[in-house]
Amino acid sequence: MEFHVVDEVESTSDGARLEDLAPEPLLTRDYETRPALVYERLRERHGPVAPVDLLGVPAWLVLGYRESLQVLQDDAGWPKGLENWRARTEGRVPADWPLGPSLEVNHVLIQGGPGYPRLRGAWDTALRPFQDPRHPQAKRLKAAVTGYADELIGLLAQGGRTGNADLSAQFSRPLPLMAASHLLGFPGSQGDDALMDMWRVLDAGPDAEPALARLLVTLSELAAAKREKPGDDFPSHLLAAHPDLTVDELARELFMLLGMTSDHVGILISNTVVEVISGEGDGGVRQTLSAGMVRETMNRVVMRKPPLVNFVPRFAAADTPLGDYTIHAGDPVWVSSAAAHADPLFAGQMTPGSSSISSRAHLAWGAGPRQCPARELASTIAAAGVSRIVERFGHLELALPVDQLPWRSSPFMRGLRSLPVRYELSGTFVPRPVPAEAPADGVPEAQDPAVKRRSSLWRYLTGLIRSGD
Ligand code: HEM
Repeated sequence: MEFHVVDEVESTSDGARLEDLAPEPLLTRDYETRPALVYERLRERHGPVAPVDLLGVPAWLVLGYRESLQVLQDDAGWPKGLENWRARTEGRVPADWPLGPSLEVNHVLIQGGPGYPRLRGAWDTALRPFQDPRHPQAKRLKAAVTGYADELIGLLAQGGRTGNADLSAQFSRPLPLMAASHLLGFPGSQGDDALMDMWRVLDAGPDAEPALARLLVTLSELAAAKREKPGDDFPSHLLAAHPDLTVDELARELFMLLGMTSDHVGILISNTVVEVISGEGDGGVRQTLSAGMVRETMNRVVMRKPPLVNFVPRFAAADTPLGDYTIHAGDPVWVSSAAAHADPLFAGQMTPGSSSISSRAHLAWGAGPRQCPARELASTIAAAGVSRIVERFGHLELALPVDQLPWRSSPFMRGLRSLPVRYELSGTFVPRPVPAEAPADGVPEAQDPAVKRRSSLWRYLTGLIRSGD
């Protein structure tokens, strides 16, 4: 991160308390369809920091680029950890607050306090072999992801060498989940059922609650198995780096890994594919890609469309001026990378043709001590997937105009709901035949990983194949 805040920010605060401001709801229909407009309205009305209502709970949303850095780079002044939240301590956060369950899981992304530094250190250590390209684990992961990408493309191409597909459901979403399953070292296809449950949780449909319960049981079983018999996988490396983690604590960290990998990496792949197909933005993307610069394209994509749009809350350690307000000790503060990227202070420097177009000063991976420890891992998985798409399809076009693609938003993320395309396989790509029959549950696993995955995930994906064009 190359930007640092050096100036003092002046406060014009009138000292109003967050709970007395009766802020407007953030998560409206406009937020779902045109979030940029919502951020701009808030910026006009309140300046770089705005009070908002998050499903019935007031919070500060940081819209300014400079103010975002100010918060992110000062972990002591703006610590995480729900125990720092005054309204929660005072019993003013409703027990049935919809965001409660995802924030109350006390894993590394959410927590502050004395246990955090050691846990973060363990994450860094455990991720290293998988994201340092010199390590055999990283090489194996990349090769596995490339293989999974071919399996998925081969499967969707069962609809024909030319045809229609939803590249989100049939590629971008399953690919990172398969990578996560590899990282987690699931024995057999047990992992696939967990992946399907992760989807149900993320989609927050009627079956989300039982799916979450099943998923946590599966991850606890996995954590216990890795404690008993460590392997060359992320849970075992995390345990080696932090042997004091209980099975429960380890399961929570694995849940975090699965959630981050499945949703955010999938979004990154889809957004990059759209950029490649449509040349949205500044054009010249195909050329850049064919020059092997998938990474650079992804960097521009996350700048324009960060997958994680709002970060989980931090809390003011003391009364602190920020933007035009004073944030009182214990108030929750949500940094919005999406809004910060639209701040003229930042966006003005990122105009097409400007020399700083490829600046990495964006906030898509966070900033400061708590920025994403898995940036390289996530980028590697996404880049391997996008590269395979470019290689395996001779022609790919959006089946809808780019401005009509359907988006889905949550308070934390924004990504495509689906990515409908018309495709033609490249002349040289011959998909491997996929066995037609899925073995019944409980049948011993075949050794071939392609056959091994004929499970719930595979049955789901097979159901999506569209025949004809
Ligand atoms: C495209 C994919 C991803 C994006 C855009 C992304 C983005 C981010 C961002 C913005 C943060 C900082 C949040 C904050 O400051 O509150 C973060 C933190 C984190 N990310 Fe990622 N992430 C991605 C993938 C992953 C993956 C795949 C993993 C795990 C394998 C991961 C693990 C973490 C962890 C553990 C933290 C918490 C770090 C801390 O609080 O010390 N991320 N990520």
